[in-house]
Amino acid sequence: MKVAVIYYSLEGNTKKVAMKILDKLNADIYELKEVKSVIPKTGFLKYVWGGKQVVMKEKPDLEELNINIDEYDCIFIGTPVWASTYSPAIRSFLSKYTIKGKKIGIFCSHSGGLGNTIQNIKDDLPGNDFITEIDIVDPLKNDIESNEKIDKWLQTINI
Ligand SMILES: Cc1cc2nc3c(=O)[nH]c(=O)nc-3n(C[C@H](O)[C@H](O)[C@H](O)COP(=O)(O)O)c2cc1C
Repeated sequence: MKVAVIYYSLEGNTKKVAMKILDKLNADIYELKEVKSVIPKTGFLKYVWGGKQVVMKEKPDLEELNINIDEYDCIFIGTPVWASTYSPAIRSFLSKYTIKGKKIGIFCSHSGGLGNTIQNIKDDLPGNDFITEIDIVDPLKNDIESNEKIDKWLQTINI
């Protein structure tokens, strides 16, 4: 079973979850990065620009990933919640690659409003087997609770 962990993270929360998955599973990791990052990491403007990207269904150009999706049996996809759904970088990723017949795990971080994030990813990845999912509230801020939740979740994953 070959596993890939693919994630986007503006401020490091989703990255933290990705790294914990990596500690537990033998996986290759890929971070999605915009070619031109227009979203500030701090301050109110990140919500304005990020929210606009979501509403406009923008697909920002991503740096080359050098991934061969066909190699993998199982893919974990990680995203922060932006405006109640997945981040625009994930939209770019999903539209660029054909993902079918895979086992899929979904992880996301948010500040208390998961919205439709997980369901939207599932809807946009038809023809796959969704094996597990988790959402974590502000994993960097809630370090201890989030570590416990992630560790418990990881114990349930049998691949
Ligand atoms: C543009 C934008 C929109 C956001 N929308 C939501 C939201 O709808 N619900 C929520 O709970 N958190 C929202 N957040 C907060 C992030 O989901 C949260 O801080 C997350 O942990 C950040 O993950 P990251 O550090 O991996 O980028 C939003 C953040 C940004 C930048």
